[in-house]
Amino acid sequence: MHRAKQDAAFLDLTVSNPTRCGFDYSAIPLDVLAAKASLHYDASSLGTQSARVAVAGMFPSLDAEQILLTASTSEAYGFLFKLLCEPGDAVLVPSPSYPLFDLLARLHDVELIKYPLVYHDGWQIDPASLDAAVTERTRAIVAIHPNNPTGHYCSESDRAALYGLANRHRLPLIVDEVFLDYGVEGRGETFAQAEASALTFVLGGLSKLLAMPQMKLAWTAVCGPARQVHEAMHRLEIIADTFLSVGTPVQTAVPAWLSVRHKIQVQIQQRVSANLAALDLCIQGTVVSRLKLEGGWCAVLRIPAVADDVELAIRLLEETRVAVHPGSFYCFPSRGWLVVSLLGNPEQLTAGLQRMLPRL
Ligand SMILES: Cc1ncc(COP(=O)(O)O)c(C=O)c1O
Repeated sequence: MHRAKQDAAFLDLTVSNPTRCGFDYSAIPLDVLAAKASLHYDASSLGTQSARVAVAGMFPSLDAEQILLTASTSEAYGFLFKLLCEPGDAVLVPSPSYPLFDLLARLHDVELIKYPLVYHDGWQIDPASLDAAVTERTRAIVAIHPNNPTGHYCSESDRAALYGLANRHRLPLIVDEVFLDYGVEGRGETFAQAEASALTFVLGGLSKLLAMPQMKLAWTAVCGPARQVHEAMHRLEIIADTFLSVGTPVQTAVPAWLSVRHKIQVQIQQRVSANLAALDLCIQGTVVSRLKLEGGWCAVLRIPAVADDVELAIRLLEETRVAVHPGSFYCFPSRGWLVVSLLGNPEQLTAGLQRMLPRL
């Protein structure tokens, strides 16, 4: 990859850093970062009150007492693994999904047990496989809404399966909603509901919501039965107090930033739609098809399963100077799947696909 990047012909269809994709961030006020309040430090473990109020305001029925701020969603996962698991305990995660979890779990001595998602005219949870994944060491169920890279929101029946299992085994849910606002045909409904029947941790953050991963601010909304929420917040406060990892300037800025989020999101939504249209045009009449997509920033391609996907991705890079993700990077079977980003510019996606498709 490093060598290919030096080549002028290189086209990166794996791009995931939105700050390199030509979006216009001028709607984001930066002067708020320099506000005098940033020179004053209050060691607020769960986050500053004004930032927590602003984040809570994005959810219909939560208050600031239910919000924990962290530097990233990845850090929030780490805190939750510490909160819920002893070394050797297990957490259920969907498969395919983003590879981040494997490393995070290993770093926290937690075992990941994958529950398979199935594809029948759209992705869904198979309740029997989900049930079968539970062991006596299971301490939480992770759902990703919408999932990366399958791009599907949890449906009503997925929610019923998740809450059914959570209630039967008294397990909390961890729901990753970092891409919630990026629906192709509208936004999914958040799991952060006051009346959630099981303890539910809902994760989000600026890295996707505002496409600003460099600002390092994420949140966990904790909801469900009041006593469990209270206890979880108390214990999370102790964990967070050990790190105090969120900077003051970004917390000072976040109320103003959240109020203009649609100005960034609309650009990304338009980009994703333009890329989907370009992709569909390119693959029309070829051996490649695209799986149904409801949200997120990438698309899954079904290709003839004739070669190992990692070898294929390397060959494509060497022969066409086009980078794509092999499906197995996201736990798809090792033949027959590729994942492409929809964040880059549509001309590049078209050019990359045109170079690549004859080799498939
Ligand atoms: C589903 C999902 N959750 C979390 C993350 C990481 O988010 P953060 O930058 O807040 O750690 C990613 C990164 O792409 C992701 O795809």
